Amino acid sequence: MSDGVVLAIDQGTTGTTVLVFDHAATIRGRAYGEVTQHYPRPGWVEHDAEEIWRGVRMLVGAALADAGVRPAEVRAVGITNQRETTVLWDRETGRPVHHAIVWQDRRTAPLCEELKAAGREDDVRRRTGLVLDPYFSGTKLRWLLDNVDGLRARAEGGELAFGTIDAWLLWQLSGGTAAAGAVHGTDVTNASRTLLFDIGALRWDPALLDLLGIPAAVLPTVRPSATLHARTNPDAFLGAEVPVAGIAGDQHAALFGQACFQEGMVKNTYGTGAFLMMHTGARPVPSRHGLLTTLAWQIDGEPAEYALEGSIFVAGAAVQWLRDGLGVIESAAETEALATSLSSNEGVYFVPALTGLGAPHWDPYARGTLLGLTRGSTKAHLARAALESMAYQTADVVSAMGNDAGLTLHADRPLRADGGAAVNAFLMQFQADVLGVPVEVPRVSETTALGAAYLAGLATGFWKDRAELASRWQLARRYEPRLGESERRRLTTRWLRAVERARSWEQ
Ligand code: G3P
Repeated sequence: MSDGVVLAIDQGTTGTTVLVFDHAATIRGRAYGEVTQHYPRPGWVEHDAEEIWRGVRMLVGAALADAGVRPAEVRAVGITNQRETTVLWDRETGRPVHHAIVWQDRRTAPLCEELKAAGREDDVRRRTGLVLDPYFSGTKLRWLLDNVDGLRARAEGGELAFGTIDAWLLWQLSGGTAAAGAVHGTDVTNASRTLLFDIGALRWDPALLDLLGIPAAVLPTVRPSATLHARTNPDAFLGAEVPVAGIAGDQHAALFGQACFQEGMVKNTYGTGAFLMMHTGARPVPSRHGLLTTLAWQIDGEPAEYALEGSIFVAGAAVQWLRDGLGVIESAAETEALATSLSSNEGVYFVPALTGLGAPHWDPYARGTLLGLTRGSTKAHLARAALESMAYQTADVVSAMGNDAGLTLHADRPLRADGGAAVNAFLMQFQADVLGVPVEVPRVSETTALGAAYLAGLATGFWKDRAELASRWQLARRYEPRLGESERRRLTTRWLRAVERARSWEQ
């Protein structure tokens, strides 16, 4: 391939995807592997960061082989990742000192309560754009330093490095140990999810480090999303030295991959969770309705861009739970036929607060709740309720966004959908119905990896500019809303009643 390729590593919660893109942004090769989930206690979720790195290494080779491309033909590498998941490792050995604490983990809920009770939430929100919820990295890092013997002293002595998964992979790709010259860095989007980063000044915030008791010595250097982050060490990258030139959290990368470059453009990614993001331009828009203010991305040499985000913790994971937890379905794909075998939900609602509730409710003590079951209820009702829950949760977030940014969706500003569940036609139609606005699904549904590739390709001149990228966005299918206004209202009112029942259950 004479033009070369860009390789994107998409390290997600349930698995890792590596894709190889050519200059036309066509996928030339791919590889996928699952990540083991560890649930040491109810509400706790962990990953083995070493397993993740071993998987990435193997999948890079497999994706290049699938594309028939040599490692030296890779012009740039882009990394995109599950955000907030917290890794702490030893700089000398390059080995983690504990399992990674995953974004879904609720163990720091009491610490968040304490900080709220001490009246710290407004100040934290003003600096970080975030709320005090166990979702973010800061309290997870604090937990590690407080609960694992010897870590605090080692952290203060500069022996340990903290990072989200992007930083962990960058470290490994660039050498893996301090002696090998490994780079300890992250990008502004990932930094903006730690609860430690000032999103206006774009730097670690000393007051927040102090509040959470985090030594500055553990922190990575923060760079723009599209820039030269490091070069791969040949030992870690199949003998080749290539630039790692794009890093962004997965939802930010998806916004970029969906070419939502203009203020007011909105995407929703239906993955393990669902994450809706609206581009809000060059200024952070504060939220008063339970959304997060976050970095959209930063291109080197340009001002940072911002977004409003609605983070829904459980979307596809609800279907996964039907499959793996209950065993009532064999594959996620079955849910579409099951849902359409019913002409309505027949009053059955599932609030999938399996890891608490995120936006706009922010209730770490909410738990999964099934309502409206009768003797006639079947697995079709469960499947339909699980799919509908993704759409209702999204509608809750869209309405918060309207209240915050005064921006509403309409026929000319539809919702751009992507992620695994965007192939489910029942879900997409129901989403358009409960929103009352069209939903558009693009041809390339791997928008997260595409976004990471675009960022890396822009930074290295592989692609020229955003106009070139925007012109590549192609519609695969548009779903028009078909539900009458009164029916829409009836369904969503019942959903909101169900949400109330799920709240504060564990408190
Ligand atoms: O904030 C968590 C998010 O980045 C995880 O995304 O795709 O792994 O569910 P995903």
